[in-house]
Amino acid sequence: MTRQIVENCINQSNSRFEFWVNFLNLIKAKNLAELGVYKGDFAAKLLKKCDSIEKYYMVDPWRQLDDWNKPANKEDNVFEKFLSQTKSKTDFASEKRIILRGKTTEVVDKITDGELDFAYIDGDHTLKGISIDLIRLFPKIKDGGWIGGDDFSKTVWQHSTKYEPTLVFPFAVYFAEAVDATIYALPNSQFLLAKDSKQSFNFIDLTGDYQDTGLKEQLNPDKILKVKNKEKFIFWRP
Ligand SMILES: C[S@@+](CC[C@H](N)C(=O)[O-])C[C@H]1O[C@@H](n2cnc3c(N)ncnc32)[C@H](O)[C@@H]1O
Repeated sequence: MTRQIVENCINQSNSRFEFWVNFLNLIKAKNLAELGVYKGDFAAKLLKKCDSIEKYYMVDPWRQLDDWNKPANKEDNVFEKFLSQTKSKTDFASEKRIILRGKTTEVVDKITDGELDFAYIDGDHTLKGISIDLIRLFPKIKDGGWIGGDDFSKTVWQHSTKYEPTLVFPFAVYFAEAVDATIYALPNSQFLLAKDSKQSFNFIDLTGDYQDTGLKEQLNPDKILKVKNKEKFIFWRP
C-alpha cells in the first residue's frame, strides 16, 4: 500500500521539491521540521504548496561550524544573510514558522516527543551528522509519521576527497534496521523512512542504484586512488 503511494508520487514529480510536495499533500502533514534550512528555499516551497501544514520547525545554526568539513560551511556573515533570506521568503507563513537557531543537539528538544508528522533531514551529512540527526529526531516523530532526507548519495565522496565523506547512505539503512523500520531509496538522492510500529525493517530501493549497502568497495584503497586521480584531472581541466 505505502509503496504504491510512494511510487505514484515519484511518477508525478520531476524534482525533489515536487516529490515532497506531492507526498506531504497526500499524507496531509500538519507538524513538520526541517533540519538544515540554509537559505529557506525548501521551506518556502513546502509552506506555499502544502495547505495542511500548521507548524514548521526550522532547525539550523546559521553560523560557521569548526567541526563541519563540508562546502556549505560558510562564514558567519554569510549565514546571517541566509537567515534573513529564509525569514523574508517565509514571512507569508510566519504564524506557522518556528525558528530554532542552533545545531540539532542544541535545539531539538524544544520539539515534543511524538509531535511531528514529518521531518526532513538536510543538515550535516557526515557520519557524525546523520547519526546524531536520526537518533535525536526519531523520538520526535509520531507513530505513523515519516522521516525524509536529502544527500542519500551513492558515493561517500559526494564532495570530493577534500571533504569529510557523506554517509547518509548507508547509515540511514542501518538505522532503519536498528529501529525495525521500512526505508525507501528515491530518485534525486532522497530517502524516506516510515515510523510505523506495525511494519518491520525493509530496504526498498526504488531506483536500483543502492544494491551494495556495505562500505568495503567504496573504501577500497584502489578505488579511492581512482577517485583522487579523476579529481586531479577535473581540477587541471581548463
Ligand atoms: C544543504 S544546506 C540545507 C538546504 C535546505 N534544506 C534546502 O533544501 O534548501 C545544509 C544546512 O545544514 C546546516 N547544518 C550543518 N550542521 C548542522 C547541524 N549540526 N545541525 C543543524 N543544521 C546543521 C547548515 O548550517 C546549512 O544551512
